[in-house]
Amino acid sequence: MTITALSEVAPDAEGLSVWPASTAGLPHGGLAVGGVPLTEIADRFGTPVYVLDEGEVRARCRAYRAAFPDADVLYAAKAFLSRAMVRWVREEGLGLDACSAGELELAVTAGFPADRVTLHGNAKSPQDIGAALRLGVGRVVIDSPSEIARLAAAVGTRGAQKVMVRVVPGIMAGGHEKIRTGTEGQKFGLALTDGSAQHAIARVLGQPQLELTGLHCHIGSQITDVKPYTAAVRRMVGLMARVRDTHGVVLSELDMGGGHGVAYRPGEPALDPAALARALRAELAASCAAAKLPPPRLAVEPGRAVAGPAGVALYRVLCVKHTGGRVFVAVDGGMSDNPRPALYGVRYAPRLVGRRSTAAPRTSTVVGRHCEAGDIVADGVELPGDLRPGDLLAVPVAGAYHLSMASGYNMVGRPPLVAVHDGTARLLVRRETLADFRNRDIGG
Ligand code: LLP
Repeated sequence: MTITALSEVAPDAEGLSVWPASTAGLPHGGLAVGGVPLTEIADRFGTPVYVLDEGEVRARCRAYRAAFPDADVLYAAKAFLSRAMVRWVREEGLGLDACSAGELELAVTAGFPADRVTLHGNAKSPQDIGAALRLGVGRVVIDSPSEIARLAAAVGTRGAQKVMVRVVPGIMAGGHEKIRTGTEGQKFGLALTDGSAQHAIARVLGQPQLELTGLHCHIGSQITDVKPYTAAVRRMVGLMARVRDTHGVVLSELDMGGGHGVAYRPGEPALDPAALARALRAELAASCAAAKLPPPRLAVEPGRAVAGPAGVALYRVLCVKHTGGRVFVAVDGGMSDNPRPALYGVRYAPRLVGRRSTAAPRTSTVVGRHCEAGDIVADGVELPGDLRPGDLLAVPVAGAYHLSMASGYNMVGRPPLVAVHDGTARLLVRRETLADFRNRDIGG
């Protein structure tokens, strides 16, 4: 296979700025990711298919480790989890944020050390708590008052569990209303303003089998500016000072959650982990000096920023329809493999791969194959005017919250996930088939 410099074969190479760094142009409009041509992946594994660049995931883990040498970086498993991903994250020295017994069990059975896992959840089930204690998770993040007694009872009088309290610091941030969690009026955490956080802290301190190591907050997702984080640090340190003044307890950890934004389309802003690390460190040092507190050990929990830009979704065009003055390009996937446009109005930048088109671009709407008018992959995008059935469309930044949020809608089946690395493709998660649907359906 010949891989040529991108600028020679892909005239709009700048349109690839949100693609994995390994993306390379091939003759005749082809693109390779991780050294593997995307057309080859589509032919070998079928479409729709998710492609995940192992090198890009690892490079992103390393960039976080380098930016936060003195902090804990926990990968947020909800963005995407598989056994291989567990191994990559472990090998790169990250911890893990899990939010269910499922994520926790998968990680631990794939060899992840449980003491490097933090368990989240606004409503932890008895199974979640049972798995956490049985497997020995490092931290449980308390998210509601009733959980305190429940967890303490499950730990038992002779046991011990490290916990944190999730605080709502009253900071508004996040790319969409559904992913803003820094203010009251949403289900997560315990508010600073009405004293619920302080109350929960006092109750945790009253449980001898729960060891309060520190505080946690996650102000939202797809945040592209450092300011909300530094504002949140100030409030969190303020609360730590009050805990010291009221209870004489100096908390040693501060987990600032995740939410680090990525660009889904060329030209969009992204949060730079190194800039975030500098800002957090500086604010923590200043706030702690002002409060006369020793700076706590910092933790961050990026999910999207580790996995998102490492993934590409591949679809085949099934039909092209001209109606109502619009052009609809329908592909063989859609909202059951990517509900994000429908949920958050996210806009993607699909492109034709595997064929060089000289046709003039045309404003098109890429839609899915599901029985719902809101099943849109990308609205108002410029695509070659001669798109036709059988063409391959690739959607970058598909590595986070795609497979993990995929559904069984219309029994289309969730796509497989193929890892690419150094010119090799291997199947990590197989396609969900009709047989899978049939096997789960045991009535009749
Ligand atoms: N930590 C906690 C406690 C979280 O709740 C989350 C995400 C993260 C870390 C990681 O956030 P990230 O760095 O990936 O933004 N389904 C939505 C995102 C929901 C995020 C929920 N919590 C989406 O597709 O945009």
